[in-house]
Amino acid sequence: MNTANHIHFYNLHPTLADFKAEVCHGLSVYPKTIPPKFFYDQSGSQLFDDITELPEYYPTRTEIGILHEHGEEMARLLGKGCWLWELGSGSSKKIRVLLDSLQPSTYLPIDISKEHLLHSVQTLAIDHPDLEIHAICADYSSDFQLPRGCIPTQTSGNEINRVAFFPGSSIGNFEPSQAQELLQRVAHLLRPTGALLIGVDLKKDPACLHVAYNDAQGVTAAFNLNLLTRINRELQADFNLTQFEHQAFYNDQLGRIEMHLVSKTSQEVQVDGQRFVFAEGENIHTENSYKYTVEQFHAIATRANFEPVRVWTDPARLFSVHYLRVKS
Ligand code: AVJ
Repeated sequence: MNTANHIHFYNLHPTLADFKAEVCHGLSVYPKTIPPKFFYDQSGSQLFDDITELPEYYPTRTEIGILHEHGEEMARLLGKGCWLWELGSGSSKKIRVLLDSLQPSTYLPIDISKEHLLHSVQTLAIDHPDLEIHAICADYSSDFQLPRGCIPTQTSGNEINRVAFFPGSSIGNFEPSQAQELLQRVAHLLRPTGALLIGVDLKKDPACLHVAYNDAQGVTAAFNLNLLTRINRELQADFNLTQFEHQAFYNDQLGRIEMHLVSKTSQEVQVDGQRFVFAEGENIHTENSYKYTVEQFHAIATRANFEPVRVWTDPARLFSVHYLRVKS
């Protein structure tokens, strides 16, 4: 089946040089840090999809439940025929729940994982032959521009409603101040008549959070460690995978899950000819996943120029989906 006529693909993927620079910088500071966006090579994206199916990992199925339960109301608020931009579209599984009631005119998924994005939009195009798709492989956390031709032109009197969909609580990967800046850039792109539908993981029993990031099958550990496998392969590094271990815990004071890779011994690692020294027990901080109360998230959204209009949660209040309008 030929679906190429309505898929446009733009590759603004970070280069290998960008990856190398960020990794080498991250390993030369203390504490060592590598941003979570680099988890998502092909096997990392697959491992993440496996995480979403784990019994312990409640966010994905809870959010999808909220979308099923309230999708009609969401579509009414967002309006039919919108220009729909999705940040971190992954497998595009969540937007599928809304597509029939929302009937967007254009769908613009952005994701950092190229093969995953291509595969997802190709299967989506088969199921939605009338949908115009502009898929963009890019790092949405960078100060990137949407390619020309992707943004609807503002013709007076005939405004297309601009909608951003940012599911999965990926906003939780950012420090609250960075999250505010990112949302502010989103608000700017959505002006003057846009809205944001965003999934945000809620504060809850730390024991429930702990098992969600320390699953019994070790899929989250494999996902975390895959970062080192990727660095070995793409940056000619020599991390010994048996000498690092997965660590995830809830930092109550900061309201976030932290993921680290812990060096089991004192050791040296080479990346692209540079040497990095690890003490025994030293960490590489690989991810934060902030959890918010509805009120805490509203405060950030408001500072980012959004007006909170509606919020849906599941009965157990594990997860929230917010509908926010750009303040005029
Ligand atoms: C994709 C960032 C929402 O923080 O829960 C899952 C990533 N990390 N298990 C999250 C993740 C470990 C996930 N986000």
